[in-house]
Amino acid sequence: MAVGVFDSGLGGLTVYEALARKMPDVAFVYLGDNAHAPYGVRDAEDIYRLTCAGVERLWAEGCDLVILACNTASAAALKRMQEHWVPKDKRVLGVFVPLIEALTEREWGDNSPPREVEVKHVALFATPATVASRAFQRELAFRAIGVDVEAQPCGGVVDAIEQGDEILAEALVKSHVEALKRRMPHPEAAVLGCTHYPLMEAAFQEALGAGVKVYSQPNIVAESLADYLARRPEMLGKGTVSRFLTTGNPASVSAKATQFLRHGIRFEAA
Ligand code: DGL
Repeated sequence: MAVGVFDSGLGGLTVYEALARKMPDVAFVYLGDNAHAPYGVRDAEDIYRLTCAGVERLWAEGCDLVILACNTASAAALKRMQEHWVPKDKRVLGVFVPLIEALTEREWGDNSPPREVEVKHVALFATPATVASRAFQRELAFRAIGVDVEAQPCGGVVDAIEQGDEILAEALVKSHVEALKRRMPHPEAAVLGCTHYPLMEAAFQEALGAGVKVYSQPNIVAESLADYLARRPEMLGKGTVSRFLTTGNPASVSAKATQFLRHGIRFEAA
């Protein structure tokens, strides 16, 4: 029993690390669906089906609360899951809402009508499936009015990061930022809407310029979860040690994860 963290693969470890840093006493069970990653190029139906299967696997571990660390799953599947599938005694939360609450200066769970906020031009960088879902714009519209969002699908960046090709990843970030700036020359804020992009935060900031506020998820999600658990301690579970599960090959996923995080990490078969 612990808090579940689901991701399509390794990227969610950026979120897991921030959660573990913020809540060192909380046990997490991380599940990476490496056998089916990446999700960012799949269609919504596929992402829904795979995400439900992953969440069920974490429920079987006793994790009544599951965080979807994956933006693509949060964007393409979460709303449908919450509306039609998640039973009353379980919770599944995503990474978009905490980010939008930070962007729109709202407290957790503030459901008051949408209002004008300071930021007016927001750039969103995400996978093709996240951009296609328009979930970010939908969730933002519940909370803010008059905000213009320009979304850039960042093809290739996830693969370059996973292959450890930093030079290619940086070049791709630069070209995606340039493409976005052709459509929105002066964004005030930029949202890194993918688990892998925090690793490229400096490259995004440099390409965007110092005047653009870059919102990166891991710390925002950690703050939000700590706040949630303080109000809902019964969702914490009783586990004491964190575990890492994968639908892929545990040995090769462990090796890749160690390279990704630059410290040792051992995955077990899910
Ligand atoms: N975890 C995904 C996300 O945050 C990126 C990797 C993938 O496409 O599966 O959108």
